[in-house]
Amino acid sequence: MEKFVIQGGKKLKGEIITSGAKNSVLPILAASIMSNKKSIIHNIPVLQDVKTMVKILEYLGAKVSFKNHTVEIDPSGINRYDAPYEFVKTMRASIALLGPMVARSGKAQFSLPGGCVIGPRPIDLHIKGLQRLGVDVKIEDGYVIADAKKGLKGNHVFLGGTFGSSVLATANVMCAAVLAKGTTIIEFAACEPEVSDLANFLVKMGAKITGIGSPCITIKGVKKLDGVEYSVIPDRIEAGTFVLAGAITGGNVCVKKCQPFHMGAFIERITETGVSVETGKNFISIKGIREWKSVDVVTLAYPGFPTDLQAQMMAFLSLADGVSVITEKVFPERFIHAGELNRLGANIQLDGPRAIVRGVKKLLGARVMASDLRASAALVLAGLAADGTTEVSRIYHLFRGYENFDKKLNQLGADIKKEKDTIQ
Ligand code: UD1
Repeated sequence: MEKFVIQGGKKLKGEIITSGAKNSVLPILAASIMSNKKSIIHNIPVLQDVKTMVKILEYLGAKVSFKNHTVEIDPSGINRYDAPYEFVKTMRASIALLGPMVARSGKAQFSLPGGCVIGPRPIDLHIKGLQRLGVDVKIEDGYVIADAKKGLKGNHVFLGGTFGSSVLATANVMCAAVLAKGTTIIEFAACEPEVSDLANFLVKMGAKITGIGSPCITIKGVKKLDGVEYSVIPDRIEAGTFVLAGAITGGNVCVKKCQPFHMGAFIERITETGVSVETGKNFISIKGIREWKSVDVVTLAYPGFPTDLQAQMMAFLSLADGVSVITEKVFPERFIHAGELNRLGANIQLDGPRAIVRGVKKLLGARVMASDLRASAALVLAGLAADGTTEVSRIYHLFRGYENFDKKLNQLGADIKKEKDTIQ
């Protein structure tokens, strides 16, 4: 295993280019199997999760090439409809294949994703949505077994759950509805830009979808889809992480090729801390300051503040002047990074789904352990701002979702070295 060794205290400055959105790429690659024709998808980030998805697609029988940030996929040879535990355990998002697989083959057999460090990850909404389209779904030996014996049939599907909308349940039901007979209305659909990106990809393939980006999506079923060429949107979570990396070091950073329009809630909160933010059509530029103010943050489904930036924001607020309250409304247990940030000298107290972050004057380098993808990013940001050396173990989590994270930060003036780790 590898670790990052970070010499903190360097102000970041310069420009950085945003990669393609991980959370778009995974469902889009999955949806490409709904045609029998070849698709070419551009702006694909080189990430462990993308490599895992490519492996699953190859396992299913597709021909895939992944070069120069482009994936070419020929799904015509697909002859399997299962995703075993070995794949699903490393990447929960493999569930994004459930809808496309049922649409393509009329059946699917998927290992259940189970819980993870950010809390329970139920799939009741995925199951309920598919059942409304006429799919028989049962759970056996840790597998979801879906069978659309009588074909897929459009219906009215209400997809709201205890914690609101679901990104991948919306993706799955939308995909299945595209090749169903008749019209489907998804009420309480997730509005995340990545769901819209998937919908736009499907429309290019020949799907009939209206209400894209709204909580009520209407899909008129079509008989078949074409192969297409498509480019995915920039990763708003990566862009936000780099904005925070600049801000936490008091540096000046311009994040290019991003879409600030997708980042309203985040930009609003950062601006309230006193950091100077300038945005254009596809860039965000920040001028860091020495002392920033505390702000309260509530994570919500889009267009609310994204849960995927909560950990990084917590790292930033741990150095703010005053007390910030962070309320996690999407994954209420997603706070495992708080304890590790405290090891660096932060003062964070947990109270159920809330974290009380009392700003401290400085953080001090220490050894910390990454627990999940975004928590890892938060620890790296804290390490950039801390005095002395911070060692972050288990950085393999980071490479699931950030392309060249250390290289990009070093390009901005950070001092991060990747070294062999003795901790397993
Ligand atoms: C996606 C993102 C992930 C992000 C999350 C929330 C991808 C590949 N991953 O994950 O990065 O953190 O959205 O923005 O796009 N829920 C249920 N029942 C279900 C499904 C979800 O109760 O059947 C709950 C979840 O436990 C959670 C909330 O709904 O509390 C939102 O989860 P969801 O939007 O489904 O997350 P994912 O789509 O798995």
